[in-house]
Amino acid sequence: MRSHYCGQVDRSLIGQDLAVAGWVHRRRDHGGVIFVDLRDREGLLQVVFDPDSPEIFAQAERVRGEYVLAVQGLLRERPKGTINPELPTGEVELLAKELTVLNKSKTPPFHHEEHASEEIRLRYRYLDLRREGMQRNLRLRHAVTRAIRHFLDETGFVEIETPILAKTTPEGARDYLVPSRTHPGQFFALPQSPQIMKQLLMMAGFDRYYQIVKCFRDEDLRADRQPEFTQVDIETAFMDETEIMTLMEALIRHTFESVLDVSFPNPLPKLAYAEAMERYGSDAPDLRNPLVLTEVGDLFEGVEFKVFAGPAHDTGSRVAALKLPGGGSLSRKEIDDYTEMVGRYGAKGLAYIKVNDREGGANGLQSPILKFLPVEVVESVLNRVGAETGDLIFFGAGKLRVVNESLGALRDQLGVDRGLIEEGWRPLWVIDFPVFEEDGGGGWTSSHHPFTAPLGNDPDELKSDPKGALSRAYDMVLNGTEIGGGSIRIHKLEMQSAVFELLGIDAEEAEEKFGFLLTAMDYGCPPHGGIAFGLDRLVMLMAGAESIREVIAFPKTQTATDPLTGAPSFASAEQLKEVGIRIRSPNKPG
Ligand code: AMO
Ligand code: AMP
Repeated sequence: MRSHYCGQVDRSLIGQDLAVAGWVHRRRDHGGVIFVDLRDREGLLQVVFDPDSPEIFAQAERVRGEYVLAVQGLLRERPKGTINPELPTGEVELLAKELTVLNKSKTPPFHHEEHASEEIRLRYRYLDLRREGMQRNLRLRHAVTRAIRHFLDETGFVEIETPILAKTTPEGARDYLVPSRTHPGQFFALPQSPQIMKQLLMMAGFDRYYQIVKCFRDEDLRADRQPEFTQVDIETAFMDETEIMTLMEALIRHTFESVLDVSFPNPLPKLAYAEAMERYGSDAPDLRNPLVLTEVGDLFEGVEFKVFAGPAHDTGSRVAALKLPGGGSLSRKEIDDYTEMVGRYGAKGLAYIKVNDREGGANGLQSPILKFLPVEVVESVLNRVGAETGDLIFFGAGKLRVVNESLGALRDQLGVDRGLIEEGWRPLWVIDFPVFEEDGGGGWTSSHHPFTAPLGNDPDELKSDPKGALSRAYDMVLNGTEIGGGSIRIHKLEMQSAVFELLGIDAEEAEEKFGFLLTAMDYGCPPHGGIAFGLDRLVMLMAGAESIREVIAFPKTQTATDPLTGAPSFASAEQLKEVGIRIRSPNKPG
C-alpha cells in the first residue's frame, strides 16, 4: 500500500513516484490549491492537490482532519519561500496523482495541539496516542526495554515468567483479589511483585533471573504510582550487595548511554539512609536541589521555648533548620503559604528568621520567635547554618516523621519556586536502611520487605535490638524519584523465622502464608539478592514527563478506573453466582 513513511521522505527522493498513507493532520485550502499534511508514525509530509486533476481535487475538498488516506504522487521540491525549516520533510512536497480515502473520521473531541482534560484524553486514548509526544514517549519506552534486555542478555540473565494468578505477596499495599470459580470462597491475589517467586528461582539454581513484569498494588495513587505498573525485576545468587550494586548501576548507565547518550558517574555516589533523612528529610532526595536541612536540636536543649525545647529533648523528634539563601525577599503572604503547605504534613507551624543584616546583631534580624530565644542561641544557629545577610532560615520542630516530611516537601517546593533545581541527572544509591520501622502500635513493620537480610547474621542479636538494626537493602534514586529498590535476602530459616516473629507473624500465619518458601529454604538455599526497577518511573524521567501516565499506553486515572473501557465494571449475576459471591453494595444494578 505504501512505498515510504511520510516522515522519512527527503530531498534524495525528488523526482520519484511515491505511495504514502496516513491521517490528515491538517488541511488548508489556498485559493484553488489544497494542502494536506499527511501524518504517519514517522512524521508529516505535505501533499498538494491541484485543480489540474479535477476528480482528485474534488475528493480532496471533502477530506477532513483524521481521515485516513492513501496517496500516490510525484515528489517535488517546494517552491522558494514555501520551505518549512521546522519540518524534517519541509523542503519537499508530494504532488498527488491518485487519492484513496481509506476511511472517514468524525471530528475528534480534541485537537493535537489542544490541552484536553486527562479524562477526555484517557477516554479517547487511541486519539491521544496519535500525538507526537505520546508516540515519542512509547517509542522511548521501547528503546529503554530493548537496552535493558540487551544488557541483561549480555550479562547472562535468563528471562523467566512467573504467575499472575498468585498468592499474596508482602510489599505493603492491598492486594487485588481474583475469585476462584473452582474453589468457591477462595481467591488468588495478583502479585504486588514476583518477590517470592524470584527467590524460589534462585533456590532452583537459575543464578541470574530477570523479568519485565506487571505488578499490582491497590494503594493511593499519585503521579508516580499506578495500580498496575511494570518492574524490571532481577535476582541473582552468590553475589553480595557490592557486586549487585556494581552490576545494576552498569545496567542503568548502559541504558542512559545507549538511549539518551547521557553518562552517569562511575561508581554512583552512596548515601546512608540516616544522613539522607538528616540533610534532605527524604530517603529519595533530589540532589539537583542545593538546599539542605541542618540539625539544630542540640542548640535548643536549654531554651524555655517549649516548641523547640520539647523536640530537642526527645529521641523520636528533631529540630531542623532550612536555610534559603536570598530568602529575605519572601513576602509575608509567601511565608504564610509555605506555613499552610507544611501544615498539610502535620507541622504545627513554620518558625523563621529573616537575616536583614548579619552584622547588626539582634536588630538585624526579623522573626516571630526571637523574643523566646537567648541571643547566644540565635547566634549559634546562624553560625551553624552559615547565615548571611539576605537569607531566611525556616525551622521545623516536632516528631521525626513530621519534620522530615514537611521540611523535605518545603525543600522541594522552594527548589522549584526559586528556580534552584540544577539541570541534569543526579543518580545515587541510598543504603543502610533500618530493617524495621515502628508501626505506631508498639510493633514493627519491614521498612523494605520481610525477606530483606539484616547486616548481622545473628537472629538473637536482631531480636535484642530491632530498632537499631540496619539492613542489606539499597535503593537507586534519580532526581528525587526512587527508581529501584532491592536487597540481599535472608537465606537461613532461623533468621527468617526471627524476622517473622518480630513482625508479629506467628508460626501458624507464617506457615499459612509463606510455608512453601520456608520449606524451600531448608533444601539448600543459596545466598541471593536482587532488585526491581520501576520501569514506568525510569521512562517518565527519561522522557521528561510529569507523570508515569504519560509513558503508559493505557493507564488508570487517580481513582483507579479506565475511562476508555469503563473498567472496573459490574459482573453479571451469573458470573457472581459461579464464583460464589453476593454483592452487598447498594450501587449494584438490578
Ligand atoms: P519496591 O516495592 O521498592 O520493591 O518496588 C520496586 C520499584 O517499583 C516502583 N514502584 C512503582 N511504580 C509505579 N507505581 C507503583 N504503584 C509502584 N510501586 C513501586 C518503584 C520501586 O522502586 N520486590 C521488591 C524488589 C526487590 O526487593 O527486589 C519490590 O517490589 O520505582
Ligand atoms: P506559637 O508560639 O505557637 O505562636 O509559635 C511561634 C512561632 O513558632 C510561629 O512562627 C509558629 O509558626 C512557629 N511554630 C510553632 N510550632 C512550630 C513547630 N512545631 N515547628 C516549627 N515552628 C513552629
